[in-house]
Amino acid sequence: MSTGFDRDAQDFARGARAIVVLPDQGGAMRDADARLEETAGLALAIGVEVRAKIAFRVRAPKPATLIGSGQVEQLAETVKADDISLAVFDASLTPVQQRNLETGLGCKVIDRTGLILEIFGERARTAEGRLQVELAHLDYQAGRLVRSWTHLERQRGGFGFLGGPGETQIEADRRLIRDRMARLRRELDSVTRTRGLHRDRRQRAPWPVIALVGYTNAGKSTLFNRFTGADVMAENLLFATLDPTLRQISLPGIDKAILSDTVGFVSDLPTQLVAAFKATLEEVVSADLLIHVRDIAHPDSDAQRADVEKVLSEIGVAETTPRIEAWNKLDLLSPERRDAVLADVARRDEVVAVSALSGEGVDALIAAVSEHLTQGHRRYTIPVAAGDGAAAAWLHAHGEVLGREEDGDAAVYEVRMAPRDYERFLQR
Ligand code: GTP
Repeated sequence: MSTGFDRDAQDFARGARAIVVLPDQGGAMRDADARLEETAGLALAIGVEVRAKIAFRVRAPKPATLIGSGQVEQLAETVKADDISLAVFDASLTPVQQRNLETGLGCKVIDRTGLILEIFGERARTAEGRLQVELAHLDYQAGRLVRSWTHLERQRGGFGFLGGPGETQIEADRRLIRDRMARLRRELDSVTRTRGLHRDRRQRAPWPVIALVGYTNAGKSTLFNRFTGADVMAENLLFATLDPTLRQISLPGIDKAILSDTVGFVSDLPTQLVAAFKATLEEVVSADLLIHVRDIAHPDSDAQRADVEKVLSEIGVAETTPRIEAWNKLDLLSPERRDAVLADVARRDEVVAVSALSGEGVDALIAAVSEHLTQGHRRYTIPVAAGDGAAAAWLHAHGEVLGREEDGDAAVYEVRMAPRDYERFLQR
C-alpha cells in the first residue's frame, strides 16, 4: 500500500487493543459465537490484540449508529475500562455510522469490508493483486470521505495546504484519491496486458497446479504444511523464495506439482472486493485440481461450503475444474458424529476425511490427489499460430477448450485434456 490514506489505516491496526462487535440482525445470521470467533480470527490476521468480544441483538438497525444508543453506551464503557483503541464491527457500516460510532465510543471503528481489505492488502503478492486491492481500498475510502466531510473539515480545518484557493481539505483529499485511482487503473491495464499473469506463470512451470481453497480457519495452512512436510518431499525450490504460499511437491506417480495455499474465504464478500480477491487467487482460477478444505466440526460447515463455492464461481473458476473435498478436523468430532461422518464419506466420491492436525487420513488424501492427476485431464495453455486452423480443430476435437485469447500473431488456448493427448499435440 502506498497511499498516505492506507498507511493511516494499517498503522492503527497493528498492535491495537481491540473489541470485536457482532450486531446480530437476525435473519440468516449463523451461530453468533462461531461468527464472533471468526471475526476475531480475521482481526488477529491484521495484527490486532483482541481484548473482548460481544454480540448485540439488533431488532431495528439505527441509521445513525446501527446498534441502539443504550448499546453504544454500554460499549463505550467497555472501551474505556479496557483501554480499547479499535472496535471491529462485524457488519457493513455506512460512513455516517462509522463516524458516529467513533465519536460515541471514543475509539477507531472498522467494519467487515475494511477488515477484509486490510487482510487482502497483506496477502496480495502479484503486482496485479496489489493494484486491485489498493483500488478497492481507495474506492472504499473515497466513499467514507464523501459523507464524513464535516468531520474531516473540522479536524483539519485551516491546514488546507494541498488545495488551491477555495478548495477545502475534503475536496483536495477526494481529488488525490481520484487521481491515484486513475493512475492505478492505467497501471493495472498495462500489467494485465503485458504480463498475462497466470499464463506467464504456467509457461514457467508446466506442472499441474493443485490449489487449496476453503473457508477461513478451515485448516488450509495446516494441511499445506502436512503436504509439504518431509514425508511428501517438499522442495523449497523455484517459488519458495518468492512466495511462501507456493511449493513444489512430488506425490506418488507425480514427479512435480505445484501446491498453492490461499487466503481464506469468507461469507458476505462485498462485491467491490471480488476483483481484488480474484487477483490474489490467480492459481485457483487456473488450477488443475482444487482441494476444498472444510472444517467438518464447525456448526456452519455446510453454509461455509456454499460460500466458498459461490466465491469460486464469482472469480471465474470453471464448474468443470475437478475438486476433492477434504473434510478436516475429524479429531474434534464426538465418536457418534465421527461414525456418521465416516459413513457419509464412504458413500461419496471425491471426499476424504482427514485431520490435518493428527495426520489421520492425509495419506488417503494424497493418494486421491495423485490418482486425479495421473489419470485425470489437465489444463494446458497452448499458443496456436494465426491461421493454423488444423491445430485449433485438433484441440477442439481432443480436449475441452476453456478459453481463447488473441496474443499478437497467435491465439492462446486454454484447454483441458489428457496428458497423453497433449504429448500427441506437441508431436504433431
Ligand atoms: P486462514 O488463514 O484463516 O484461511 O486459515 P486456514 O484455513 O489456513 O487454517 P489454519 O491451518 O491456520 O488452521 C486454523 C486453526 O485450526 C488452527 O488453530 C489450527 O491449528 C486448527 N486446525 C487445523 N487443522 C486441524 C485439525 O485437523 N484438527 C484440529 N483440532 N484443529 C485443526
